[in-house]
Amino acid sequence: MNVTELTALLALASIALFVIGLKRLSRVRTARSGNALMAAGMLLAVLITLLEIGLVDYRWIIGGLALGAAIGVAIVVRAQATQMPEIVARFNGFGGAASALVALSLFWLEVVQTPSQATAASVLGGTAGTTLVLSVLIGSATLSGSILAELKLRGTLSGSPRIPGRTAVMGALLLAGLALGAVAVFGVEGAGLAAALVVGLVLASLLAGVVLVLPIGGADMPVVISLLNSLSGLAAAAAGFALTNQLLIIAGTIVGAAGLILTQIMCVAMNRSLVNVIAGSFGEGGDVEHGEYGHVVAADPESAAMVLEAAGSVIIVPGYGLAAARAQNAAHDLAKALIARGTEVRFAIHPVAGRMPGHMNVVLAEAEVPYELLFEMDVINAEFSSTDVAIVVGANDVVNPAANDTPGSPIAGMPILEVEHARQVFVIKRSLSPGYAGIKNELFERDHTAMLYGDAKQVLTELAAELQSAG
Ligand code: TAP
Repeated sequence: MNVTELTALLALASIALFVIGLKRLSRVRTARSGNALMAAGMLLAVLITLLEIGLVDYRWIIGGLALGAAIGVAIVVRAQATQMPEIVARFNGFGGAASALVALSLFWLEVVQTPSQATAASVLGGTAGTTLVLSVLIGSATLSGSILAELKLRGTLSGSPRIPGRTAVMGALLLAGLALGAVAVFGVEGAGLAAALVVGLVLASLLAGVVLVLPIGGADMPVVISLLNSLSGLAAAAAGFALTNQLLIIAGTIVGAAGLILTQIMCVAMNRSLVNVIAGSFGEGGDVEHGEYGHVVAADPESAAMVLEAAGSVIIVPGYGLAAARAQNAAHDLAKALIARGTEVRFAIHPVAGRMPGHMNVVLAEAEVPYELLFEMDVINAEFSSTDVAIVVGANDVVNPAANDTPGSPIAGMPILEVEHARQVFVIKRSLSPGYAGIKNELFERDHTAMLYGDAKQVLTELAAELQSAG
């Protein structure tokens, strides 16, 4: 077997690892191994590329691998589960930048460093020239958009300034970038002017990324990040075409498609269109009513524990506040205390509870809550009416009946967990403050709802302690 056959075979294995890994990501139980398989596929892809390139100075490559791995480990080790969307944003930015840099180095090596009086297209070929421009354009916009998205999620950058004529500005920037790239590749001979035009392409693309993300509210960033993830994949696929590297084309297309599907899933789960998300300002600004509350009943952990002692079935509904309070272990402890008393306990998972897809699955898995106790919204909704107690932990929008009852509500039509059908509802949160959508939640005013005010971890710990002391 020669090197070409060997690399083709290994490339097939790498692609198989990507595809099987992606499939396994769709189930909580298999997600970790799916992630590991995909990482192995990526490592294999890097090794194949090195084999294909042949003899090069490996010191730079090993240095780059070590530096990249060290940066990756340093970022992830210090991160908390709630910071995951920010980290994904940063990695998307790196992905976009890497693709743009690959395309730019091709241009640098083949056009700038190789003096000729021909156009870049005649040196590189029309397809490579076109996809090189696309990779620089999409990759650079992904980089600047992702940096902004991370800053917004962290709260370093607040507010969502309106940009007058934003759609036209963005369209003009993208067209300008494409035009500069097209002239650089097809229109001019010699390296100097072409290089200057490519610099213009990079600048226009970076600005387009800023105009895309700047007016979108921090709360919508998870959707934007998923979209940027898709774009980083497309940038990689375009770089793959420029380099005629099939592995990069396939890996990039998989990322692009997966990111787009995820974006769509998130929009459907919030009952919003992607256009509406990109238009910006959801959940922010003065047009969203915060709502005054009428009669709201408060309870304390002691009295709530007495109700729980008598309950035959309990459904725990985690939301963003559970993750923010890092209360997953406390929630599991409460579940164990109830199960020990013979109570049936289930966790209800809403697809957009929290701030990233699968957020609740991730935090509950971290606390080793058995998968068998987790139930998706479609399955568990039918169970609330025969359940004694629903405990809502730091969730708000995903249990807000306004989604069903109030046609003009910002969340109208969003599928919710119908906890109000349970015989008794306890809501654990620190105050009556609204959630992500910034609206009143009439669940809190229902006769059979009682608020357990406080930090989720503290209240859950007290509830479990009360149950245990009751024997
Ligand atoms: P939210 O509606 O955001 O409500 C979270 C609640 O947690 C808040 O009302 C807050 O009330 C409470 N909270 C915060 N810190 C707490 C703590 N330490 N202890 C106890 N409670 C705490 O959350 P949700 O119900 O999970 O809904 C998610 C929202 O995010 C949806 O509107 C969804 O559309 C949106 N969204 C989700 C995603 C994904 S993919 N998951 C993406 C984009 C947008 P207090 O301040 O009173 O404590």
